[in-house]
Amino acid sequence: MAPRVILIGPMGSGKTTIGQLVASNLGIAFRDTDHVIEERAGKSVSDIFLEDGEDEFRILEKKVLRDELLSDDTVLALGGGAPISVDAQSALRAIASPVIYLDISLATVAPRIGFNRDRPLLLHNPRGQWQTLMEARRPIYESIADSVIDVNEKSESEIVSLVLEVLK
Ligand code: S3P
Repeated sequence: MAPRVILIGPMGSGKTTIGQLVASNLGIAFRDTDHVIEERAGKSVSDIFLEDGEDEFRILEKKVLRDELLSDDTVLALGGGAPISVDAQSALRAIASPVIYLDISLATVAPRIGFNRDRPLLLHNPRGQWQTLMEARRPIYESIADSVIDVNEKSESEIVSLVLEVLK
C-alpha cells in the first residue's frame, strides 16, 4: 500500500493544482497533507499556526504524513515543509512510490505568493521568507526526489504530461 506518486516542492510550486489534474487524469484519488491536517484539526492551517503554533502544526503534519504514505494508489501532495524533518526524509527515501520535486524559481513564484493565501510562513516579506526557506530546503528536496520537474515557463498541461511521463 503506497501512493502512486508523491509531489514535493516549495509553497506556490503548484503541487495541489498539478496533483489534482494528475489524479483526475489517472482516475485515482488526490490527497494533500494540508487538507488532511485541516480536516483533522477542524480549522485552517493559518488558524493552527496562529492559535497552536508552528510546533503543534509540525506534530500534526508528521502524523498525517505517516498515515498518508500508507494511502493506496493516490496522488499525494505534501505541504512545503512536510518532507523536511529527518523522519520524513527517511520515510520518503525508503518508499517505493516515485517522489517528484516541482522546482520553481523565485521569479515565477513571486506573483503567486504576493497575496497571502493561507500561508502563515509568508505573512511578512513573502518573497524574502520564501527565498530563505528555499535556500535551506532545496538540498533536501533534491536529495529526496526521484525526479525533478522544472515548472518554470511551463503550462499546467505541460507539467501534468511530464508527471505522467515519469509514471510510465
Ligand atoms: C508550509 C507550506 C504550506 C503549509 C504550511 C507550511 C511550509 O503548504 O503546509 O503553511 O513550511 O513550507 P503548501 O506548500 O502547500 O503551501
